[in-house]
Parts: sequence; C-alpha cells; structure tokens
Amino acid sequence: MKAGLITGASSGIGLELAKIHASKGENVLLVARRKEKLLVLAEEIEAKFKVQALVFECDLGDEKAVEELIESIASKGIFVNYLFNNAGFGGWGTFADRNAHEDRNMVAVNIQALIRLTHAFLPEMVKQNEGRILNTASTAGFIPGPLQATYFATKAFVVSLTKATHFELRKTKVRVTALCPGPVKTEFEFAAGMGDSKMFEKGADAYSTALKGYQAMMKGKAIVISDFGFAILIKYLSPFIPDRFILKVVEKMQTK
Ligand SMILES: NC(=O)c1ccc[n+]([C@@H]2O[C@H](COP(=O)([O-])OP(=O)(O)OC[C@H]3O[C@@H](n4cnc5c(N)ncnc54)[C@H](OP(=O)(O)O)[C@@H]3O)[C@@H](O)[C@H]2O)c1
Repeated sequence: MKAGLITGASSGIGLELAKIHASKGENVLLVARRKEKLLVLAEEIEAKFKVQALVFECDLGDEKAVEELIESIASKGIFVNYLFNNAGFGGWGTFADRNAHEDRNMVAVNIQALIRLTHAFLPEMVKQNEGRILNTASTAGFIPGPLQATYFATKAFVVSLTKATHFELRKTKVRVTALCPGPVKTEFEFAAGMGDSKMFEKGADAYSTALKGYQAMMKGKAIVISDFGFAILIKYLSPFIPDRFILKVVEKMQTK
C-alpha cells in the first residue's frame, strides 16, 4: 500500500493537508499526540474520500516513539510516497528566560523528528524514483526572531535543509518543498504561549495555507511563501533593510 504521512494532523495546517491529500484519492497516515482528534479525522476522511486513513499516536519529541512509529509503518509494508513534515510549535520569551527543556523539546519536534522521518522514507522514494516531501517551515526561517529566538532558528534550519535536499534530488523525480507561511489562525499561537496575540488577528486560514503548500509541492518547487506581503518583503526588500531594523520590527510584532 502507498500512503502519505502527515505529522501534526490533529489540527491546523496538518489537518487541512491530510484532507487535501485524501481528496486526491490518496491513503493517509495521520500522526500526532491527540489520538481522539486523529480518530475523528480518519473516520471523516474514510467516509468522504473512500481511501484508507490510519492513525498513529506519537510524541515526536520522544526519540524512542519516533523509532516505534517508523517500525510500525515498515511492519505494515507501507511505501510512504508523500511525507508531510508539518508538526511543530513555537515558544515565547527571551532566550535567557526560556525553559531549557521546552526549547530542547522544540528542537526535537521541529528539527530532529523531521530529519529522522526524512531519513526513514526518502531513500525508498529515490529508489522508486517517485515521491514528494513537504516541510512546513515559516517566514520565520528567513529572519532572526527576538522573543522566539529558538523557534525562528528551527525554521531557518528547515528552509536551509529543504533548499539543499531539493538541489541534491534534481536528477530524480523526487522533490522536497518548504511551505513558509506568515501568521495563520490555528492553535499555534496558544501552543507558543502567545495568547490571543494581535499578530494572528489578520492571519491567513489553515486551508488556504495548506492548499498553497500542496500545490507548490506538486509543482516540485523548493520554497513557497504563502503570504503575499511577506513574500514581497522577504524576496525583494529584506536584503536592503539593515538587520537591526528587522530585529526591532520582529520584536515589536511579538510583544504581548
Ligand atoms: N500558525 C502559524 O502562524 C504558523 C506560521 C508559520 C509556520 N507554522 C508552522 O506550521 C506547522 C503547523 O502548525 P499549525 O499552525 O497548524 O499549529 P497547530 O494548530 O498548533 O498544529 C500543530 C500540530 O503539531 C502537532 N504537534 C505538536 N507537538 C507535537 C509532538 N510533540 N508530537 C507530535 N505532534 C505534535 C500537534 O498535534 P498534537 O498536539 O495532537 O500532538 C498539531 O497537530 C508548525 O510546524 C508551525 O511551526 C505555523
């Protein structure tokens, strides 16, 4: 059986990616910690799109749990031909005040799990000369982020990794894409400890963000910045703006 694996499918962008992928007639493997939410989604997907939706409860911050997830998929003989490395979270506060354990967990989910799952499934995609990977990065991946220093740095890692692997794979039919949204109205702002932050009031919706990522992935693009304003800023204006000014603006945007 072939299937697309979606991490962070229990809410927000990941939930929409799972529905979009299933709507194309593709089987889906739904991964997150909140099993009940995944079960509800799986039932909805199977009824609506007549595909298989399997649920995997997994804390991606737990290295052992990630290994068990990979083993469980291998034991079912599933070829993961689409991988959506989407699960992730932020964390607010100055670096000096942040809890070291929380930041380590953020790195484990946003970076380490993404690397491990890519190592687990990319080689078979290359062997079969078929497959797509969509990494949910962020516009945060292009700039430093005072008050969310570790989060912005994790997303810079994802952008860099995606650009390099996309280039390495150019002679194959496998493609890796990074979806880089600006603010999106999901559970993210609450998980990041940013409360009802003003920055998210005018945020994009999860469905249109997921759709832009999905379409860019199918076209085989390396990077898609889903927010038009941020796209102009990052691609054309930021190279001419002094770092200090960018740091001040980002800090102000994130001040509660
Ligand atoms: N919303 C934004 O403004 C925004 C902007 C740019 C980029 N992004 C990125 O978009 C991605 C999706 O976020 P979202 O906005 O859709 O936020 P969300 O609604 O909070 O969804 C986050 C998803 O990640 C999963 N997750 C978090 N920690 C996990 C863990 N330890 N193990 C397994 N799954 C875990 C959550 O599932 P469980 O809680 O059930 O485990 C949930 O399904 C993230 O990578 C985020 O950094 C978001």
